[in-house]
Amino acid sequence: MKNMLIIIIFLAADEAMNLLSMGYRDPAVPAVYIFGDSTFDVGTNNFLNDTKSKADMPFYGIDYSPSHSKPTGRFSNGYNTADCIVQLLGFKESPPPFLYLVQNDTEDFNTQILKGVNFAGGGAGILHHTGKQRFGRVISMEEQIQQFSSVGDNMTRYLNESAAKGIINKSLILISVGSNDINEFLMFNVSNSSSLIQQLQQFLPDLIASYQAHLTNLISLGARKFGILGLAPLGSVPDVRGSYGGNSSNEINAVAELFNYGLYYMLLDLNSSKFPEFKFSFGNTYSITTGMINNPASLGLSDVATACCGNQTLTSGTPCSPNATVCEFRHKFLFWDRHHPTEYGSQLAANDLFNGGSEFASPFNLSTLVQTL
Ligand SMILES: *[C@@H]1O[C@H](CO)[C@@H](O)[C@H](O)[C@H]1NC(C)=O
Ligand SMILES: *[C@@H]1O[C@H](CO)[C@@H](O)[C@H](O)[C@H]1NC(C)=O
Ligand SMILES: *[C@@H]1O[C@H](CO)[C@@H](O)[C@H](O)[C@H]1NC(C)=O
Ligand SMILES: *[C@@H]1O[C@H](CO)[C@@H](O)[C@H](O)[C@H]1NC(C)=O
Ligand SMILES: *[C@@H]1O[C@H](CO)[C@@H](O)[C@H](O)[C@H]1NC(C)=O
Ligand SMILES: *[C@@H]1O[C@H](CO)[C@@H](O)[C@H](O)[C@H]1NC(C)=O
Ligand SMILES: *[C@@H]1O[C@H](CO)[C@@H](O)[C@H](O)[C@H]1NC(C)=O
Ligand SMILES: *[C@@H]1O[C@H](CO)[C@@H](O)[C@H](O)[C@H]1NC(C)=O
Ligand SMILES: *[C@@H]1O[C@H](CO)[C@@H](O)[C@H](O)[C@H]1NC(C)=O
Ligand SMILES: *[C@@H]1O[C@H](CO)[C@@H](O)[C@H](O)[C@H]1NC(C)=O
Ligand SMILES: *[C@@H]1O[C@H](CO)[C@@H](O)[C@H](O)[C@H]1NC(C)=O
Ligand SMILES: *[C@@H]1O[C@H](CO)[C@@H](O)[C@H](O)[C@H]1NC(C)=O
Repeated sequence: MKNMLIIIIFLAADEAMNLLSMGYRDPAVPAVYIFGDSTFDVGTNNFLNDTKSKADMPFYGIDYSPSHSKPTGRFSNGYNTADCIVQLLGFKESPPPFLYLVQNDTEDFNTQILKGVNFAGGGAGILHHTGKQRFGRVISMEEQIQQFSSVGDNMTRYLNESAAKGIINKSLILISVGSNDINEFLMFNVSNSSSLIQQLQQFLPDLIASYQAHLTNLISLGARKFGILGLAPLGSVPDVRGSYGGNSSNEINAVAELFNYGLYYMLLDLNSSKFPEFKFSFGNTYSITTGMINNPASLGLSDVATACCGNQTLTSGTPCSPNATVCEFRHKFLFWDRHHPTEYGSQLAANDLFNGGSEFASPFNLSTLVQTL
């Protein structure tokens, strides 16, 4: 009888453990290394004195509970898309910025880099000069990859070469970059002397070739699994809707789509002919965002055109600043400021990138990439 009771208690405890563990997932990858621009920045640019690309003032972070609503450098009311993706992997949020680890947390540097680092910074582009004219100091992809290379050296010294390689080749590399290059090309470089299509025929292949060179460098540093986000419909963000008008929006969207096609075929080529060990999931943020804009109600959205923060109308707008107005129902808005999604918009997108079908992530989604390859 006594034994029987013990067995029952054991079984019950086992059952309880199972229930407790259901809310927790062991991350499917040991670490995540994150690259790109403001869409993925979690505080990098707060460490730069001389940049205009910063989200260090209210009302940024208003819904970010770990900081009790203080701005963190994320261009969002709460978590951004990088956070939301890694949360689906089982992490709490994005790993910290490289510059935070270097400047403010050297004590944890060697253990944290084994779990991930975020190198992304607002204003950054694929091209080295992108962002500098508009924002001053930005950390380009080239510089972000140099920082990643130095992190690899620190890992090798802390562990040993094969252990460091073994972590990097199982880790997820997330990249979201390109909007600043495209926007600045359209702003500064397009001349009236020949057609836009002609100029794009020269510019886009060069841009994609630069992107490929960055990926090749990451592969040579041991990276293998890539989650690469394409461009959203850049003409549909509140800023562009405000300053141009319907037709230019469509034209800018068409350029974003052309870039995405070029990027996808470059990725396929890298995988099939140059580096078979290179594995990727391409995130079609263009179709994801367009889907939200065309069918907001089914996702619980009521405003997919104006910015929640920044007195935005359809024809004019101000930046998100302490002076601006903020919408009350943030989970009803797709856009937080004139360029970036709300936390809710990011969660919806992350879910499509992670679990969605091939219209959202191709040739397979992030869940497939991390679990089966
Ligand atoms: C930024 O400013 C701080 C304080 O003024 C200074 O200590 C730091 O070196 C500066 N950093 C850069 C990158 O200029
Ligand atoms: C980093 O350290 C500086 C100086 O100690 C401090 O002012 C700043 O708030 C810290 N930044 C973060 C993100 O913790
Ligand atoms: C990481 O490596 C660099 C040299 O590449 C070194 O200066 C730095 O001290 C190392 N960081 C830590 C925390 O060991
Ligand atoms: C590297 O480190 C791992 C983990 O600590 C260990 O198992 C392995 O034997 C080491 N390899 C070499 C070549 O020292
Ligand atoms: C990852 O690196 C380790 C250590 O060099 C190696 O044994 C393993 O085969 C690599 N795996 C992949 C998938 O590249
Ligand atoms: C575009 O303009 C910028 C700044 O004027 C210049 O640095 C850059 O080289 C130009 N890019 C192209 C592709 O022409
Ligand atoms: C192209 O034409 C527009 C309108 O006529 C003008 O505002 C713009 O400055 C011109 N761009 C260049 C690069 O000459
Ligand atoms: C926008 O495009 C439509 C159809 O192509 C055209 O009829 C209209 O005049 C254009 N509007 C502007 C402001 O260019
Ligand atoms: C890339 O190539 C490998 C073969 O090495 C394959 O298993 C993988 O599914 C390919 N495609 C992608 C998108 O990674
Ligand atoms: C806020 O408004 C004040 C007064 O109109 C102005 O001086 C200041 O520059 C504004 N600040 C921002 C961040 O827009
Ligand atoms: C935004 O709107 C609010 C309320 O209408 C107003 O008080 C504030 O001055 C406006 N701010 C800007 C920067 O236009
Ligand atoms: C995407 O992920 C889910 C798992 O969440 C999987 O069941 C599904 O088959 C995947 N879809 C595609 C098209 O890869």
